[in-house]
Amino acid sequence: MSKVKAAVFASGTGSNFQAIIEDKTLPCEVVLLVCDRPSAPVIAKAQRQGIKTFVFSAKDYESKEAYEQEIVDVLKRNEIEWVFLAGYMRLLGQTMLDAYEGKILNIHPSLLPAFPGKDSIARAFEAGVAETGVTVHYVDGGMDTGPVIAQEVVEVLPGDPLESLEARIHEVEHRLYPKVIKELLQK
Ligand code: GAR
Repeated sequence: MSKVKAAVFASGTGSNFQAIIEDKTLPCEVVLLVCDRPSAPVIAKAQRQGIKTFVFSAKDYESKEAYEQEIVDVLKRNEIEWVFLAGYMRLLGQTMLDAYEGKILNIHPSLLPAFPGKDSIARAFEAGVAETGVTVHYVDGGMDTGPVIAQEVVEVLPGDPLESLEARIHEVEHRLYPKVIKELLQK
């Protein structure tokens, strides 16, 4: 039986994209990468795996609605049922949210609602918190808002540099995101 089709949206390195596509036990198949940064390393990762890419620059469009309508058309043509944001650094607009209501997930490197937005690991580190972590949540129109599905705590160890905290958080991300996707889609 063929698997449900999914797309990953990413803007950067693509380590979470990689973690998702490497998990062959998932009940879905990632058949498309959507990327808003033509220079992002994640694009080469998709190409190496033979995964289709849709790469765009927001500045080439009149509005968010215009580029999201094109994205939705591409998603529908590819029979995509689920969308996983993995370091996609743009807020979704109503066009995407209406087309994929309840079918869009995001991963974020903090214990939301703490430290939403960019550079969350560094901001938590600088704030001196004793623990931070990783959140997987449904996406709405806000910045890293939407109902939380799963969270995992990562301790900030005394004397541990930022780089080590970042590495430990990414390790959790790469394990937690595929796990949550699997559990949710199997329901
Ligand atoms: C990840 O840490 C992800 O949680 C974060 O961007 C990074 C992307 O890394 N997302 C956000 O901050 C969303 N607000 P990756 O490109 O290596 O997967």
